Amino acid sequence: MAVPMPNDHQPQDLTVTSAPLEPTEATVTTIVPEPNGPVGITGRAIPTFPKPQPLTSTGPAYVISMCNQKGGVGKTTTTINLGAALAEAGRKVLMVDMDPQGSLSIGLGVRGDDLTGHATVYDMLMDSQSAPASKVVMPTTVAGLDLLPANIHLSAAELRLAGEVAREYALDRALATVKDDYDFILIDCQPSLGLLTVNSLTASDGVIIPMECEYFALRGVEMLKETISKVQERLNNRLTIDGVLPTMVDARTLHTRETVQAVYDLFGEAVFHTTISRTVKFPETTKAGVSIVEQAPNSSGAIAYRNLAWELVERLDKNGAVTS
Ligand SMILES: Nc1ncnc2c1ncn2[C@@H]1O[C@H](COP(=O)(O)OP(=O)(O)O)[C@@H](O)[C@H]1O
Ligand SMILES: [Mg+2]
Repeated sequence: MAVPMPNDHQPQDLTVTSAPLEPTEATVTTIVPEPNGPVGITGRAIPTFPKPQPLTSTGPAYVISMCNQKGGVGKTTTTINLGAALAEAGRKVLMVDMDPQGSLSIGLGVRGDDLTGHATVYDMLMDSQSAPASKVVMPTTVAGLDLLPANIHLSAAELRLAGEVAREYALDRALATVKDDYDFILIDCQPSLGLLTVNSLTASDGVIIPMECEYFALRGVEMLKETISKVQERLNNRLTIDGVLPTMVDARTLHTRETVQAVYDLFGEAVFHTTISRTVKFPETTKAGVSIVEQAPNSSGAIAYRNLAWELVERLDKNGAVTS
């Protein structure tokens, strides 16, 4: 049974506008713990999120980019585990590797050699006629969870796309052909704000920003917000920030608490209630090529990503973003 969100936590318009990027006095909110109920590290009472209702039909997919130009903040880990948790909730999910490092593909057990003779995201972006998404797609070990894989060849795409007409729309065009086959498409962005990331944002309905809760977390965030605003103004006006996800959280430290407070000051209610703790299980599962949701379904990491999936579905439902 769902516990309703407190009144002051009603979903608001999270759309990025060209509002001042610096937090102004008016936008800075000091986190005041709620008097009753458990309070999360973001200082708000933690609502419980209901298990998503089964869907009666598939698609069209809601497309989300995991985006932060900082490396090592949990973009790939979030793509894999949020994808697995959404699949567990009965959603059909397609994950897209838009990082030439191929970490998403590797993290799902697809080695570079496995892609010999197999079309990749690079081929799809270059020529979606001969390498349509339906040909590039690979199943994963999880039912309902597919992958568009990439490897280092993708690094050439940035340069090659640069001279093309409508270069920002290459991914959007390619994904349009498979949108009806999925409920969610999750795009794992590379750690830069270059043309591949602009393609990802142009193809997306929303963005999730994973933020590692350490001292320099907010460095570069202005530039990220500016890029999102520009894409929204010039290329894709449906783009919104679906949420900001604090990752690598160590709730025992003052340092983490201060960082989460700063993130909350900047993004307000866009910050998810769910946060992801720092745990050694993630590097272990990454090595094993599986999600933590699959390998250790009752671990704190799996529970956190399941909670994130449920929170996300509820948030999108409330915003009317996804029809079921
Ligand atoms: N919550 C976490 N706790 C501990 N380690 C994590 C956590 N999330 C991710 N990691 C590890 O940190 C490293 C970077 O994470 P990754 O998801 O690849 O970041 P990004 O895609 O932003 O570069 C990986 O080795 C991953 O296993
Ligand atoms: Mg990554």
